[in-house]
Amino acid sequence: MARVSLRGSSPLTQDKLTPALAHVRQQVQSELNRWLRKEDGPVSEAMLYSVEGGKCLRGFLVLEGAKVNGVSAPLATPAAAAVECIHAYSLVHDDMPCMDDDDTRRGRPTVHRAWDEGTALLVGDALQALAFELVAHGDLPAEVRLALSASLARASGVRGMVGGQAMDIAAESAEAPLTLEQITALQRGKTGALIEWSAMAGASMAGADPEPLRRYGQALGLAFQIADDVLDVEGDAAAMGKAVGKDSDRGKATFVSLLGLDGAKSRAESFVTEACDALSVYDEKAECLRQTARFVISRRN
Ligand code: IPE
Ligand code: IPE
Ligand code: MG
Ligand code: MG
Ligand code: MG
Repeated sequence: MARVSLRGSSPLTQDKLTPALAHVRQQVQSELNRWLRKEDGPVSEAMLYSVEGGKCLRGFLVLEGAKVNGVSAPLATPAAAAVECIHAYSLVHDDMPCMDDDDTRRGRPTVHRAWDEGTALLVGDALQALAFELVAHGDLPAEVRLALSASLARASGVRGMVGGQAMDIAAESAEAPLTLEQITALQRGKTGALIEWSAMAGASMAGADPEPLRRYGQALGLAFQIADDVLDVEGDAAAMGKAVGKDSDRGKATFVSLLGLDGAKSRAESFVTEACDALSVYDEKAECLRQTARFVISRRN
């Protein structure tokens, strides 16, 4: 089976992280199950459907960033569930015919295929609202919940994920290929902003200096999206649970389209090194975050 094999990445890394990710997935899912009941109607049912089956990387980063800053998992879990809601909403909309037009996500029909486009639109809207409801609740001090809401809103919106998605769509019909700076800005928005927020949230919770985790999250976000773009060329659709070969079909601007596969892979490795270097202040406490950075470029899905 094809895998994104990059120098310095080891399959063992994924094996060590797998149970830790699975544990966080369970914590996040039980938080979401407290808020959503499929009996409440098709939108609730489709919301639950759309938050299931992902890697839960962003939720994992929230809980790990909290842990290295001495914040307990129960305090951090609502924020982890919130970012997974925003992420799931972004995927539901990303898959719609007006965006990437995909039929499969996480190994199942996309929401607009399993239900219909109207439901998919509303699922995204409602997941976004639920994310902020989650952050507003929970046992963190009120000023921390307010700061997390403001930073999550910024990371999700036109200066973050939505802004990056808009650039991604515009690039499909751009007359000239995007420059490296433009592609970097696009990826920082569409994927990087939520990953950066996830990495930094624990520092905000603890009132600690957010800079190390911000630099880690920024570099990790870029490495993550490059790996996604490499997998779109080299990956296995069954393992990934989504179609491959879509980016070149649609004329997407990616690091791979600009630098080629080898150039993109070596760029991803540099970002992983940058991410790990940013964590020096946390010493061995951040080993799991370093492993996560290596996992991001060695994953199969
Ligand atoms: C896919 O994200 C979309 C991108 C931002 C590249 P993930 O690869 O984290 O998707 P799931 O959550 O595991 O399905
Ligand atoms: C999606 O990027 C980014 C967001 C949903 C914000 P892609 O379009 O590359 O993600 P996949 O490949 O469909 O998962
Ligand atoms: Mg897209
Ligand atoms: Mg897509
Ligand atoms: Mg992709």
